[in-house]
Amino acid sequence: MIVQQDLNNVINTTREKIQQELTRHLHQLDIPLQLKNSMIYSAEAGGKRLRPVLLMASFNAYSNDINKVLSSAVALELVHTYSLIHDDLPAMDDDDLRRGHPTNHIKFDEATAILAGDGLLTFSFELIANDPQLTDKQKVQLIQLLSKVSGPKGMVAGQIRDMEAEKKAVTLEELETIHTLKTGELFRFAIRSGAYLGEATQEQIAHLDKFAHYLGLIFQVQDDILDVTGDAEKIGKPVGSDEANEKNTYVKLLGIEGAVEKKDYYVGRAKKELSAANADASYLMALVDYFSNRDH
Ligand code: IPE
Ligand code: IPE
Ligand code: MG
Ligand code: MG
Ligand code: MG
Repeated sequence: MIVQQDLNNVINTTREKIQQELTRHLHQLDIPLQLKNSMIYSAEAGGKRLRPVLLMASFNAYSNDINKVLSSAVALELVHTYSLIHDDLPAMDDDDLRRGHPTNHIKFDEATAILAGDGLLTFSFELIANDPQLTDKQKVQLIQLLSKVSGPKGMVAGQIRDMEAEKKAVTLEELETIHTLKTGELFRFAIRSGAYLGEATQEQIAHLDKFAHYLGLIFQVQDDILDVTGDAEKIGKPVGSDEANEKNTYVKLLGIEGAVEKKDYYVGRAKKELSAANADASYLMALVDYFSNRDH
């Protein structure tokens, strides 16, 4: 059994490690200053670092040599940060607060924000390609998976579906697809790459993949709930953004209670898949409830 204190310690230790690595890589870049400042601004603005936490927890279910996963974890956080910068742009969700600070395009300008996002995205692949801890085969696998989950078949597809669904009625099934693509796919990378580098079996990876699918949904349903019930100070972003943009969310379709019920259903499914993965997964198990009950 993992007690809350243990879980918090693991999360904090992982966060610190990621923070250090991220800072090290970004600060040594010899690039135009405005671009560098804006990339660092968003990457270091805070953020829960939950995708790297998940990647490391998945890896730790099979192995302990943490150096093996650092570049993948940082790359994933950089891709996620890029997605947030672009998600906040006036042409998309048009939000002015992120991670408790003015969004990138407010602090700098729109062109810089677009380019900072482009820079973070592409740099993440360079990071993996240059990692001396990884074999060439591992690099190819990781780059292939990261480009797939974040690209036009993954997160980018989810983002355009989310935009296209604004001000329209969608079915619950369509909403689940949007959430799976825009959010779930990066969680899939976290779980899958951790297990792959930890040398899990194909069968274990298949169960973990389904686990990641439900975890992504749990995460985004809670994000939808927090957009209504959250505290802007705690979540570090505006409350009510979805309603203002007439977004399709679980809360809009099902109401708060219905959204919570659906989330609980996903929690049950996630735990079932994790048990079937037959891994030393107590931290992953504890993270399911943490994701589901988070208030920021
Ligand atoms: C926000 O993700 C975007 C979603 C997919 C809902 P996080 O809530 O993980 O954002 P940070 O990284 O902590 O800022
Ligand atoms: C964002 O979903 C998902 C991505 C950035 C890929 P949201 O638009 O709900 O995220 P927040 O609420 O702005 O963080
Ligand atoms: Mg959005
Ligand atoms: Mg948004
Ligand atoms: Mg949201």
